[in-house]
Amino acid sequence: MKIAFFSYKSYDKEWFDPYLEDSGLEIDYFRVRLVAETVHYAKGSDVICAFVNDDLGKEVIGKLAAIGVKMIALRCAGFNNVDLEAAETHGIPVYRVPEYSPHAVAEHAVALILTLNRKIHKAYNRVRDGNFSLSRLVGFNLYGKTVGVLGTGKIGRVFAELMKGFGCRVLLYDKFPNAEMQEKGYPYVDLSTLLRESDILSLHVPLLPETAHIINRETLNMMKDNAMLINTSRGGLINAEHAIQALRTKKLGYLGIDVYEQEEGVFFQNLQEQIIDDDTLGLLMSFPNVLVTAHQAFFTREALDEITRTTLQNIRDFAEGRSTGNRVRPPGR
Ligand code: NAI
Repeated sequence: MKIAFFSYKSYDKEWFDPYLEDSGLEIDYFRVRLVAETVHYAKGSDVICAFVNDDLGKEVIGKLAAIGVKMIALRCAGFNNVDLEAAETHGIPVYRVPEYSPHAVAEHAVALILTLNRKIHKAYNRVRDGNFSLSRLVGFNLYGKTVGVLGTGKIGRVFAELMKGFGCRVLLYDKFPNAEMQEKGYPYVDLSTLLRESDILSLHVPLLPETAHIINRETLNMMKDNAMLINTSRGGLINAEHAIQALRTKKLGYLGIDVYEQEEGVFFQNLQEQIIDDDTLGLLMSFPNVLVTAHQAFFTREALDEITRTTLQNIRDFAEGRSTGNRVRPPGR
């Protein structure tokens, strides 16, 4: 099986290559993002391996089908960038890695909270500059604070347990409450209660039409003054312009994001010598109470190993005609 691997970064090779020997699988690595103009890189390949910011919309899938690509192997959990209907129409199965390390992402959400709260990013720079003053570094105790978890799937549940460990009061909201969390005594509340009562709100729902911009002017206004908002899920959950307004009026006291709606073409790149042509992101990065990381929540050794092994297993399952739970289909199919 020949695999065209898009959006390749040097670390990918480090993880994938050791598994290829005697596997019958061959990978062509391409640094380019998969978009309509780069589909031709996949000519002669059976499978394309894609990541979070590759474009798998209708047009691209049509073009992939036309050059004979037979399978899409996502090396990520989210599939909001894939037109599943188009893939189904063209008979191209889509597989993903549904779970690689919920701990990696949940722990990164905690890292954003601790960094923003205790201003570690500022303290680090100050001390390196010989400035040992504590001025404006004051934080707050997590103990006793209310933490809202929006979405209690694999990641949200781990995050809830971690915050419980700090002695927080943890409130949950999910369209489909989790029985195990209920048995453990975690209270599920409605969305407006979650927004109104949380000192810290962390987003763990997938990006779907119904969750797009779930954080907007209206929902931000329902939040506590000076609340902290954390997003390690997908950028499109937050209306960034509305978040900027809320930061300006101090409705939002802190914003920690690992994902950004327009992150394609920016995140995962070294743009040090370039002007970043995104005023919204530029403004967000200029706020002292905003912390942006570039979609790195998944980035642990354990997660990378699991992503690699599951992606290659998905390709082998497809090659050998096995349809597994890792295949994603359009809703209702
Ligand atoms: P999951 O599928 O286990 O959980 C998602 C939860 O959201 C489910 O419990 C579901 O019932 C709930 N949900 C769906 N629609 C909802 C709605 N309209 N209202 C309320 N709840 C709703 O997903 P998992 O593994 O916990 O991942 C969550 C998200 O994290 C992924 O969709 C992905 O976008 C993101 N992610 C980000 C990574 C990063 O590196 N920053 C890495 C991995 C995932």
